[in-house]
Amino acid sequence: MPASRRGGAPAGRGTEGRAILRAMARLIGVTGATGAVGGHVAARLAEAGALQRLVVRDPARAPLLVGAEARAVPGGYADGQAMTEALRGVHTLFMVPAAEAADRIAQHRSAVAAAAVAGVERIVYLSFFHASPDATFVLVRHHFATEEAIRATDLRFTFLRMNMYLDFLPGMVSAGGVIAGPAGDGRFGGVLRRDVGDVATEVLAADAGHDGRVYEITGPERLTLAEAAETISRETGKRVVFRDETLDEAYASRAGLAPDWEVEGWVTSYTGIAAGELDGLTDTVRRLTGREPGTLADWLREHRDALAHVRSSASSDV
Ligand SMILES: NC(=O)c1ccc[n+]([C@@H]2O[C@H](COP(=O)([O-])OP(=O)(O)OC[C@H]3O[C@@H](n4cnc5c(N)ncnc54)[C@H](OP(=O)(O)O)[C@@H]3O)[C@@H](O)[C@H]2O)c1
Repeated sequence: MPASRRGGAPAGRGTEGRAILRAMARLIGVTGATGAVGGHVAARLAEAGALQRLVVRDPARAPLLVGAEARAVPGGYADGQAMTEALRGVHTLFMVPAAEAADRIAQHRSAVAAAAVAGVERIVYLSFFHASPDATFVLVRHHFATEEAIRATDLRFTFLRMNMYLDFLPGMVSAGGVIAGPAGDGRFGGVLRRDVGDVATEVLAADAGHDGRVYEITGPERLTLAEAAETISRETGKRVVFRDETLDEAYASRAGLAPDWEVEGWVTSYTGIAAGELDGLTDTVRRLTGREPGTLADWLREHRDALAHVRSSASSDV
């Protein structure tokens, strides 16, 4: 939120300032605060003077922040009763999607129902780029189903549809310096998690102007995985390449590493790129935060150890 960078006053941008000040008096429930995006959002909201309740599975891992209290729901979204109790008094809920699971849609429906029963007025849900019921990347269908569950309530809502995280890419590089998957030369509009978090912070802090809106969130570049590998190589000095697998190779190389539904999720995250379903650029980050989104190169320059797991003479897996 630009306001906090100007010294912490919760003034917001332009005409939204008064709405943001009013929102500061409302309790904002933040899920996922022990993770990357939720943790970033909670920190930014605290800097801006918001009152927050961090709804977490393990309160010992919740960040300690001014104006924030932690509420434990060890069973997570699946525990509807505990979620309902934890959300009583919350005005606006930031809902981070659960870890990938075979029953993730049911978990999300449980959390949405809990919010409605608890009297939450507004949900801001972190969804996925171009969420649809027949997305090639099968896990994106979970997000569409969750959006539908939220639309079916009387709650005010905003959907923030993240593209693939740019800062997730280094973790996709094998120890031998390879990103392998059936993505072909498809492009994606990857975005940094902190930019997703900053957009979320703006939407959460301003109580007006975002109802019923769906924001597709991208970074500034349409990248292929081969181009991403080149950027990673250039910025880290480690040789990284993209290897375009066939579908059969992709399933074979991942066989037995996880349950079938999860392997399908991994493989289709690449075929979704090949199908062009993550392709596109939006001005959401600039429009909502007032600054340009960061690039993969920006992030790598700040995280020199991001490829510590990759051998420097990385060529053996190629
Ligand atoms: N766009 C992408 O490229 C991409 C890549 C990977 C994942 N994602 C999705 O984006 C979400 C947020 O990203 P992130 O980087 O912030 O993830 P993260 O760092 O893994 O954090 C996830 C957060 O969600 C909480 N959580 C997980 N399952 C839950 C459940 N069943 N009930 C309640 N809370 C639960 C976790 O709590 P604990 O600390 O207790 O585990 C953690 O606080 C992820 O959860 C995942 O669904 C997107």
